[in-house]
This record gives sequence, C-alpha cells and structure tokens, in this order.
Amino acid sequence: MKRRNILLAAVILPAVMAFSQQYGGMWIPTELNEKEMKDLGMKISAKDIFDPAKPSIKDAVVQFNGGCTAEIISPQGLLLTNHHCGYGQIQKHSSVGNDYLTDGFWAKNMNGELPNPGVTVDFIADIKEVTGAVLAGTQKLDGKNAEDLIKKNIERVRAGFKLEPWQKVVVKPVYYGNKYYAYVIETYKDIRLVGAPPSSIGKFGSDTDNWVWPRHTGDFSMFRIYADKNNKPAEYSKDNVPYKPKYFLPVSIKDKQENDFTFIFGFPGRTTEYLPAIAVEKIMTDIDPAMIGVREVALKTLNDKMRADDETRIKYASKYASVANYWKKWIGEVEGLKKSDAVGKKKSYEKMLIAKNPQIKPTIDRLNALYAEQAPYALNRAYYSEVSRNAETLSLANQYINFIQSYEGGKMTDDVMTAFKNRLAGFYENYSGELDAKVTAELLALYAEKTPEKFLPANFSQLKDVQKNIDMVENWSKQSVITGRGSLNGATVTSDINKVFANPQVLIANLKNDPLLQWAGAMRNSYLTTTETKYNELQNEIDALQKTFMAQQMSTDKDRQFFPDANSTLRVAYGQVKGSNPRDAVYYGYQTHLDGVIEKYVPGDYEFDVPAKLVNLYNAKDYGVYKDKTGSVPVNFTATNHTTGGNSGSPALDAHGNLIGLNFDRQWEGTMSDINFDPRFSRNIMVDTKYILFIVDKYADAKWLLNEMKIVK
Ligand code: ARG
Ligand code: GLU
Repeated sequence: MKRRNILLAAVILPAVMAFSQQYGGMWIPTELNEKEMKDLGMKISAKDIFDPAKPSIKDAVVQFNGGCTAEIISPQGLLLTNHHCGYGQIQKHSSVGNDYLTDGFWAKNMNGELPNPGVTVDFIADIKEVTGAVLAGTQKLDGKNAEDLIKKNIERVRAGFKLEPWQKVVVKPVYYGNKYYAYVIETYKDIRLVGAPPSSIGKFGSDTDNWVWPRHTGDFSMFRIYADKNNKPAEYSKDNVPYKPKYFLPVSIKDKQENDFTFIFGFPGRTTEYLPAIAVEKIMTDIDPAMIGVREVALKTLNDKMRADDETRIKYASKYASVANYWKKWIGEVEGLKKSDAVGKKKSYEKMLIAKNPQIKPTIDRLNALYAEQAPYALNRAYYSEVSRNAETLSLANQYINFIQSYEGGKMTDDVMTAFKNRLAGFYENYSGELDAKVTAELLALYAEKTPEKFLPANFSQLKDVQKNIDMVENWSKQSVITGRGSLNGATVTSDINKVFANPQVLIANLKNDPLLQWAGAMRNSYLTTTETKYNELQNEIDALQKTFMAQQMSTDKDRQFFPDANSTLRVAYGQVKGSNPRDAVYYGYQTHLDGVIEKYVPGDYEFDVPAKLVNLYNAKDYGVYKDKTGSVPVNFTATNHTTGGNSGSPALDAHGNLIGLNFDRQWEGTMSDINFDPRFSRNIMVDTKYILFIVDKYADAKWLLNEMKIVK
C-alpha cells in the first residue's frame, strides 16, 4: 500500500522532472550528473562548473564570512550576497546620523567603499576524495581505536598536499563517515561594503513574509574583495587593490519561463535526509513542537513590548528576527513532514530495503530501540537548550557561573577576563532586564511544567505558577548584578562594568548569593547529571549505527543516486524554474513583480513600508530594460532547487551559466526538505537579477557598478 504510494509519487511527478530528483540533491561539484543536467536543459558542461585546472564557475563562488554564500559579478572582484548576510556589517557602519539600515548605502566610487575587519571569503581551489587514505587500516579496529587512527590518517592526508602559503586543507566526512573529502581553501580578508538597499527593500515583508511565497524582497547587498599587489590574500590595507578573479559571472536580464533549467552553487549548511523513520517521527512529534513551544512564549512577550516601545523594538530587532526565523521554519517543517507523509514514506522504504537485504533489519530494529530509549532525554534536551537560550537571564547566569568556575579553577587570565567583559558589554547594549525578567519567569514555568520530576532539581516544581513566578523573578532580577539592575561597588554592569569586576572575589561572593544564579546552577546541574550524559551515550551508539545504515542504504538501493547530506561544503543543486500547488485549489505562480510590492505597501508600517523613490518609479513606470514580458519588473521567483540555510546569497544560474537570481529563502510548505525533500512542495526563493539591477540603476543611481558588469540581454 505505502510502497505503491512511493511509485505513484514518482509517476505523477511532472514528466520533465528527472527520477533522481525526487529526493532533491546537493551534489559535490566534482561528481555532477552531467547527463541528467543536460537532459533538463543545461547547455554547459560539468567542467565549466568545476575545473581545478582552468577558470570555471566555481572561481566566482565563495563562502561569505563562514555562513552565507556570495558570488563575483565583475572583473574587479565585485561581490553579490544577501542583505540579511551583510546585515551585521551594514549595521556596524550605521549610526543615528548615518542610518544605512534604514536609508541604504551606496559608495560613489571605490574610495567610498567601507572596510570590514574580520570579514572573510573562502574560495575552494580544489576538491579530492580521500576516503581510501583516511580509512586505511581502520576496518579491523573498533570505536575509539578507529577514531584515533582516522585522526592520524587525516593529518597525513593534509600534510600530503602541496600548498601555496595562502592555502589550507580541510578534510570532512560525508555519508556519516563512509567517505571523506579534502578541500583546498583560499581565504581573502579585505572585504569592503559597496552597497545595500534600504531595509524597506532589502528586508521588505520582514518576519511576516519570511519563509513565505508569494514574496517581494530585494534581499541583496554588494561587497568587494581586495587583494595585495600580487592579487593574493592580505589583511586590510588602504594599499590593497580590487581582486582580479579567475572567473566572474555574467548577469542575465533575459525573461524567464516556467521549466527553464537552473542551478544553485553554494555552501548549504546541514541536512539529514537519510535518517530512519523513527528519528523523523521524533523530530515531528517531540523535538520541533518543544522548540516551537518555547520560542512561542518568548516571542509573544517580546513582541508585545516591542510594539509598545520603540527603544525596545530597536534593541531587540535583530535577536527577535533570528529567534522568529527558526520558530517559523520549524512550524513549516512539521506541517510539511505530515503533509508529505515523511514517516510513512520512510517506513515503506525501510521495508523495501529489508526485503532486498535482510541484514538491514537488525540495524533498523536497534535504531528503533535506541531512539525510543533516548526519547525522554532528547525531549528534555530540546526544552533545556531552548529555555536556556531564550531566557536571557539563564544564559547570562550560565556565563557568570562559567566565570566563577574558571576563576576559582585558576584559569582566569587577564585576556580571558577582558574578552568576557567585552562580550558582556556588547550584550548589555541590546538588553532590557525588566523585559527579560518576564520572559524568564514564563519560560521557567514552562520548563517546570513540561519536565518530568526526575530531571528537575529539588523544589523546582514551585516555579510552575506563571503569575507567582513573574513577581518572584522580577524581585530577584531587580536586585541582581547580572541583569544590570542591581549594583556593586556603587556601579552596575551597564554603567561601569570594570568597577563591578574590580574585585573579583567580592563579585563572586555576591553572585553566589544571587537566587537567579542558584536556580540556573541547580537547573544546569540536574540537566547535566540526569540527561546529558545518558543522551550522549545513546547518541554515540546511534551515530555508529547511522553510519552502518547509510552504507546499507547505498549498497542495497542500487537505483537511487545518493548525494551526501549538506555539511557547509560547496555543492550544486539543480532543477527548474517552477510554481507550485501547495494546497487544494491553491496555485502559486513562479514569479512576483513590482506591482505586488505596491499591493503589499502599508505606509509607515515597520514591515511593509516602501521608499518614496520606489513608489515614484512605479508610478512613472520608469522600468528601462528591467521590465519583463508582463510590462512590470520581476522581483522574486521560485524553482525546484534543493537548498538550505547557508545557501543564502548563492547564485542561481541558467542553462548557460549566467546569473539569473540570488537565492535567499525557501517556501514554507517545503521547508521539510532538510529531512524529506518533496518535489511537489519544496521550492527555493530567489531575487530576480532584473530587480537587483533595477534597484542599482534606477533607485540607487549607481551606474558605475553596472558598468563593471557583463550584462546579458
Ligand atoms: N528565512 C531566511 C533564512 O533562513 C531569511 C532570514 C532573514 N530574514 C528574517 N526576516 N529573519 O535565513
Ligand atoms: N535564509 C537562509 C540562509 O540564510 C536560506 C533559506 C533556507 O534555509 O533555505 O541561508
């Protein structure tokens, strides 16, 4: 019955959707399915995409500051990434007088570009599979011994690379340790901000539209890579010169059609596509709902205050956005897992595997038993980590507890102390102790309510009553040094942190008497002793079995083309420009337009305001070459590319390898693609290059940037 569903799903896929794409795919660029990509419409070759010996598209794709992706779009190292990826840098250069977040920023020429010490971009010079050398001699060894030898082997493999002084090698496992790959990386360190639209374009729709299609966000910003006189990486210096890339992407402003071939080239962070059914079920029924529940409480209280008070709104804007981002994603993920019957599909897949290879049965049975045994610990772990992250008082308390431990253990050097104080000072800049007391009180009540007695410290159940908690925590918080509300030596951590830390012994004595630290410490101790040890012990066994299960899936299911789970390494995902049918009688087109921005426009709104100049361009229909066949300017579009977090800022390319879009999000109904890609609902969302160039040209008047690019009409 279920087995028929799988077959049926494969049959009802659009005829053009290749069979192997039913599971999505984030492919290692040296192992592309060239034939299938060509069948789907690709006109270039796999070597054009990745060639370690000759300039290829990979030379234009970088990992941006360790998280996002960016791409080079001019012979002078001009870099394109998302607005939300450059957000921190745009924020750092902003002040009340020069509010680049609100107003946008555009350098007038190269001299006006703004340096960002600490920001890096990584190029991948080469990729080599090194499984044989890494696993050599480990076959007969078990657990710890095998691990030790693998570590030694990896060092040998790394030492075997002939590197330039500016290169390094990183070796990473894939398929849960069944294979290993080495990456030769070149890191550039002088990255300057060139331009960013105002948030009312770059973050248009904010949290309401986040993860949502139809979408109308101009989520892009521009940077430039600088190099030394020899075009090699160098620390920031005003004498550095624009980097001359081996390759840069031509930018296409041709109209798009549904079903056009497209691919995404970037650094997806983490997926888990090969888990057993039981693991997916636990995520869907236990883990995600627990994390959603905690964040829901925190977000509601934060939001009420942020709407009522402007100062709080600004202080908490960035924190709120990041808490809300995954809260919303997990809600979509749970719905998508249910709707795509992920557990049912996985269960029948396991049956099919066992029918072909009976050795898989003991693996699955043992995994089922382990996940069942781990479930209560995993649930507590989810609650504990989300509560201690979102109740800022607890996370502060934990940091101060670490400080006490390291001071009393004699490990507190001056440098560590200074770093700790600096980190705290930065934190307190965007913090409200009073608001936090309320959130913390609510989350402590939730934790007391949701956690079985055996995982709680003594007397913790007295924290179950929200109203009582609010009064009690507020009382503690008011007098506490760690919230910045209580003073010591006549100072608070917000007025003069150095004075508070002047005599560490006095501070520590005070902290030890603080009920907030006492509760946080008790909570942490009972978590560590009752949950974490047991959780890790079971997880180690699960990890070892998952490696076996992965190998068994690959050796048994010969029809399937496997790709490794995302691990922040360079990958290619390919598919087609496509709309979708996410619910009964609901059809989404593949493309949005400027008209839709104006439809959503709410003057003065914090999410849906539109800058006057953009409204004027719309009213005057001053679209130049950037309108499409509809007469309006295309803004965002969707495709079937398999992407995840980290793919933000990735180039979307066409059949010829020209840039047609900038990846920045996924459609809510398909976000379970991290666990179970479903071609019916999983769509990535990109900014159209026509919108990007329209904003640079007509809105920002930054024609000097267009002149650098190679524009394909
Ligand atoms: N959902 C996108 C991603 O996961 C965009 C997040 C930034 N935007 C926001 N409104 N929080 O990164
Ligand atoms: N916005 C995500 C990022 O920052 C990409 C969206 C996704 O998860 O697919 O990487």
